[in-house]
Amino acid sequence: MSTFWNLWIVGFVTANIIFIAWLLYATSSGKKSDQPAGPETTGHIWDGDLQEYNNPLPRWWLAVFYASIVFAILYLALYPGFGNFKGLLGWSATNELQGQEAEGRLTTARVLAKFDGKSIAELAADPEALGVAENLFAANCTACHGADAHGNKGFPNLARPDLSWGRSEAAILATITAGRQGVMPAWKDILGTESVTRVANYVYSLSGRPAPDITAAAAGAQTFATTCAMCHGATGQGNLRSWAHPISRVDTGSMAAHWRQSKNPLAMAGAIKCPRGENCSGSKKSGYSQPTSTVSRHLP
Ligand code: HEC
Ligand code: HEC
Repeated sequence: MSTFWNLWIVGFVTANIIFIAWLLYATSSGKKSDQPAGPETTGHIWDGDLQEYNNPLPRWWLAVFYASIVFAILYLALYPGFGNFKGLLGWSATNELQGQEAEGRLTTARVLAKFDGKSIAELAADPEALGVAENLFAANCTACHGADAHGNKGFPNLARPDLSWGRSEAAILATITAGRQGVMPAWKDILGTESVTRVANYVYSLSGRPAPDITAAAAGAQTFATTCAMCHGATGQGNLRSWAHPISRVDTGSMAAHWRQSKNPLAMAGAIKCPRGENCSGSKKSGYSQPTSTVSRHLP
């Protein structure tokens, strides 16, 4: 706080307290009525004969008022509030928050301590550990993977039996610990719209569904073998070592959705042209050029 505002607040608060104390004193120490004719009146008269008495304020009421002034002075002496003065107790909102945070961390550490050294299999069989983990999932993962872990558009369903990056404990641990960055290059500029539509028809048929355009799908098969199979596997089953992504699953209902981006050939073509709905109308997608150049050597 600058000196000006410090002085402003100190001056303002002091003046206020003095003014209120004076006001109380001035109004309460009113003159005793010296008219034997009865209580003093303010001189206001309503309805012809209704008069307003000018009696002193009740004692208890005044006492409460004086007490509140004493309270204010004590408060300002003990706690911050009087300009830059920090208060005799040294209390601060920041310290209080830090204290609460430290307490929270201790509680968390205490809760988690009993799970130390247990294997994932042991934890998975422990209802208490699962409860804690469920909370962690709700707080950190549901925004992308959905409250029931079944995924959202663009984010994988974690409740399916085959995970792209592997289902072993070690693989899942590695996924969560270090993250995964499987990013598909945009094929729009490399293959051209027509070729993308053909390969999309073929990819659609990989799930065992009839392709909407059988001729296009047949033509797309070749592109798939030369351009896509290196990452997605010969039958679209995915390929762990090169950022596998199984793309031949049937979507057995919205809950078991496996496709992240695309469930119909049209949307799928969009996903192949511009993965993740990014605007790739410009030149190449950034940050992922090596596989693109490898791939373009195989272009039909
Ligand atoms: C900001 C969004 C986001 C959040 C939050 C998030 N994830 Fe993910 N997660 C993704 C994306 C995107 C992928 C796919 C990455 C890829 O395949 O390259 C993924 C992949 C995964 C995978 C691998 C799936 C597979 O098929 O192999 C697991 C397991 C996973 N996440 C678990 C979690 C857990 C546990 C949390 C919470 C601690 C979490 N995720 C939070 C976006 C998110
Ligand atoms: C360099 C490896 C690589 C190549 C080559 C590749 N992909 Fe992909 N593809 C991926 C990855 C990784 C993902 C997951 C991307 C994501 O979710 O961000 C993906 C996702 C997809 C999806 C979306 C899957 C879903 O769950 O919705 C489709 C469809 C797809 N690819 C089709 C193709 C086609 C067709 C080709 C060939 C023209 C191709 N891919 C070539 C790596 C590749």
